[in-house]
Amino acid sequence: MGQKNTDMSEPFKMSHGTGALFGKVSWRSPSNIALVKYWGKREGQLPSNPSLSLTLSQAFTESTIEYEFIEALTSPEIQFAFSNAIEFSFEERISGYIKNLIFDIPFISQVRMNIQSHNTFPHSAGIASSASAFSALALCFCSIEKQLNGAVSGTMNFYQKASYLARLGSGSACRSVYGGYVVWGETVDYNDSSNLYGVPFPYDVHPLLTDMHDSILVVSSARKTVSSSAGHQLMKYHPYASARYQQVRDNMSSLIRIIQSGDMDGFVKIVENEAMSLHALMMSSSDSFILLQPATLSVIEKVKDYRRRSGIPVCFTLDAGPNIHMIYPAIYKDQVHEFIQSELVQFCEGGRVIHDFIGDGPKQLI
Ligand code: DP6
Repeated sequence: MGQKNTDMSEPFKMSHGTGALFGKVSWRSPSNIALVKYWGKREGQLPSNPSLSLTLSQAFTESTIEYEFIEALTSPEIQFAFSNAIEFSFEERISGYIKNLIFDIPFISQVRMNIQSHNTFPHSAGIASSASAFSALALCFCSIEKQLNGAVSGTMNFYQKASYLARLGSGSACRSVYGGYVVWGETVDYNDSSNLYGVPFPYDVHPLLTDMHDSILVVSSARKTVSSSAGHQLMKYHPYASARYQQVRDNMSSLIRIIQSGDMDGFVKIVENEAMSLHALMMSSSDSFILLQPATLSVIEKVKDYRRRSGIPVCFTLDAGPNIHMIYPAIYKDQVHEFIQSELVQFCEGGRVIHDFIGDGPKQLI
């Protein structure tokens, strides 16, 4: 390797000299929507309860890292280029995240990297950008480790390790490493489930539930008043915590059975119960907070009414925000789109609806 300049005040440049350990990796990772919600965590980014999600398809982050391994470095050198103006605080969060990874992937402290990242969906649209962002980054780090060492180190396989590293950035990100339905957190329903990383849904999925759609109704794109991380902390002393953890274990077992049996009534019941419970927990925390907007409630009522009228098993779920995710089997797509267009767009900010569907998971681009 030639002479390296490690002064970050100077423009970042990859030196592609003879024998230099450098390279480029790139991953596309989708976001995911939880059907059984992770809410509450313990030291070390460990979840207080198991969760189950559906990985999306169109809403993704693409991250590319050009890197150089520099023996003399003692801490990672990071430069960012975010195409669609991610806030400064996000840059800081990512920087802090990477610096903390030296305990899990020590080689990172000797890497100079230039990270380029962009999302296909607007910020604050009710799609978890931290899930897709940290998943894409973690997959890139595993690819870098593989290029430098021939394989990822330790006992975990490539995707387990990517999921493990993604979790350290944002809990829900560990589920974005796989497509389809994903389980994160120990559950009696699957012996190989883990608090450390997500696992792909281990059983056969009923045909009705293999091709699910998620239409996201953007009620508000305003910044959340309380972050998910702050919300998780409020579960520590929540008066309903133990009842919630019992409820979530029951919902988890039921939903795992339902995904195999195709019981759509059961599916709707559990998914909506999880969304309502999540927001009820927020409203009964100390301090309490409300992320729902009047339009959210109007849409919820309309969806329930439409389901009664049409017999179509469409249900809603909510993230930690006011926007509605409408979940339904692909075969009902035309009817549900028509319903959204005629009765629901009026509640959306600028009439914005993002149509997405279940996907195969991340894709390596380079
Ligand atoms: C309501 O994964 O965003 O979306 O681990 O602090 O980054 P951190 O939290 P985050 O929380 C997600 C909460 C949720 C439910 C879920 O995705 O399971």
